[in-house]
Amino acid sequence: MFLFRQDPTRRCASPGDARDCWHRPAADLGQGQADTRHADADWWRQAVVYQVYPRSFADSDGDGLGDLRGVISRIPYLASLSIDAVWLSPFYPSALADGGYDVDDYRDVDPRLGSLADFDDLAANLHAVGIKVIIDIVPNHTSNRHSWFAEALAAGRGSAARDRYIFRDGNGPGGARPPSDWGSMIGGPAWTRVPDGQWYLHLFTPEQPDLNWSNREVRDDFLATLRFWSDHGADGFRVDVAHGLAKDLTEPLADLGQLPRTAFPPGSHPLWDRDEVHEIYAQWRQVFNEYDPPRTAVAEAWVQAARRPRYASADGLGQAFNFDLLEAGWDAAQFRTVIAENLAGARQQGSSSTWVLSNHDVMRHATRYGLPFAPGNPSPVGPGWLLSDGTEPALDRHLGLRRARAATLLMLALPGSAYLYQGEELGLQEVPDIPPDAIQDPIYSRSGGTAKGRDGCRVPLPWTPEGPSFGFGSGPSHLPQPAWFGAVSVQAQGSDPDSTLSLYRTALSWRRRLRAAEELDWIQGADPTVVHFRRPGGWHSVTNFGQQPVTLPPGAVVLSSSPVHAGQLPGNTTAWLIDRERMP
Ligand code: BGC
Repeated sequence: MFLFRQDPTRRCASPGDARDCWHRPAADLGQGQADTRHADADWWRQAVVYQVYPRSFADSDGDGLGDLRGVISRIPYLASLSIDAVWLSPFYPSALADGGYDVDDYRDVDPRLGSLADFDDLAANLHAVGIKVIIDIVPNHTSNRHSWFAEALAAGRGSAARDRYIFRDGNGPGGARPPSDWGSMIGGPAWTRVPDGQWYLHLFTPEQPDLNWSNREVRDDFLATLRFWSDHGADGFRVDVAHGLAKDLTEPLADLGQLPRTAFPPGSHPLWDRDEVHEIYAQWRQVFNEYDPPRTAVAEAWVQAARRPRYASADGLGQAFNFDLLEAGWDAAQFRTVIAENLAGARQQGSSSTWVLSNHDVMRHATRYGLPFAPGNPSPVGPGWLLSDGTEPALDRHLGLRRARAATLLMLALPGSAYLYQGEELGLQEVPDIPPDAIQDPIYSRSGGTAKGRDGCRVPLPWTPEGPSFGFGSGPSHLPQPAWFGAVSVQAQGSDPDSTLSLYRTALSWRRRLRAAEELDWIQGADPTVVHFRRPGGWHSVTNFGQQPVTLPPGAVVLSSSPVHAGQLPGNTTAWLIDRERMP
């Protein structure tokens, strides 16, 4: 794995040589400036949220699975990143049929990951260092081990217990064919037959039966769950598959084939993004507003940009993920459009935009940007890119990391909140070569082994250069780590001022200190491959998406993703500058 090597003479010794500097500590702006951590209700608007995938973050008891005490042990590290919140992916009891998004009990902790008392400790310890806690809530489906599903199977057709889910009789002689032709999001059919002959719907794996959100008990129970975790110190919720809860299942069911299939007029797809879903979130909002500050929520809603503001409404969840940046290719025009559209959309609802480059479902951006890219095309984010026969498309990891660093600096300069995924601060690449017998993601088996799935971005973090799992735990980790992980470990990068970890730390600390209002002015130059904008306070971000160096605008360079020299911004690089008159 490539890590930048830098000539020490390029480092900033004083503000005077700013145009040739690379990382200047944020402390240069002076002491005693206000901290960005708010106690107020708007803390989320420009928060930096760091996603922890608990099973792969830190393992405190050596069983190979990360756990809550592992996260607690790494709070000093999290605090050193200058983040505002941690988002914990599911830590609930689960058979892990889908990485924990198959929840057995919404109000407990998987005993392999800890206990409720550990969650309380985690929340208290994060709060003590000024970091908020966001948890994942999975309302579209339970697991098939949830007590409700067991009751539904036992109670039989037509029962109240079955009405909490979506059971239907099948088609054809004896009802032997599924009620519709729908294929699940993870491969294979979206219906599974139970012993008495009925079928249940699962938009994801068979272990994730979909809930019936027309059922009053389902609705009430989730309100109780939101209160439960809010009382346990959760400051906010990330809402899984937020666009899927309301469904039109009037018969005959539409032919949809392989899901998601989205070719429907807005709001009229039987399964996704129906307007009625917002009635559910209006109720949730009432619960959030029972707390002070109100609990926050962010919708995971894969919907068209124009529909996203509905989820981000102040009467609803308040914020919605925008995956457009993640899906954009390395292309100045695409980035500009995505940024402009999303800022306008968020403003429309009084929300703030969200920005994401990596998460637990997509290829890490340091790898994505190293794959061949045809201008005008989206970036290859899907889990199917690495084929099970071991072939992979031509990949330039060096270029990928260089662009990833540039994209991150650009993202961190945008108004709104930035969501980071664990390990991206190490510049981690996707792990392509997980042996078939170690693969956990159901996408692998349900695609008949044609797609490896998402494990490549979920491999446990390397903390130290050596050790049985590079400091993740005292034994081997639940997903195998490659040998190159040691060289990119936290410890290996922590003291290297040129490492990606140092770049993130410096950038996040500058972002906190600059703390600009939610405004952005585009600065149009002659070169279409350059994206330049200015934030209040004289903070500029300039990204050169091309290959050839371009001349930097006036200002003092405080940080850049690759070294800048003599007023030139090299290709595939972002620099942050401050107007000279604003420098202390
Ligand atoms: C989560 C995935 C999960 C799916 C089903 C997604 O949006 O991020 O990891 O497989 O929901 O719960």
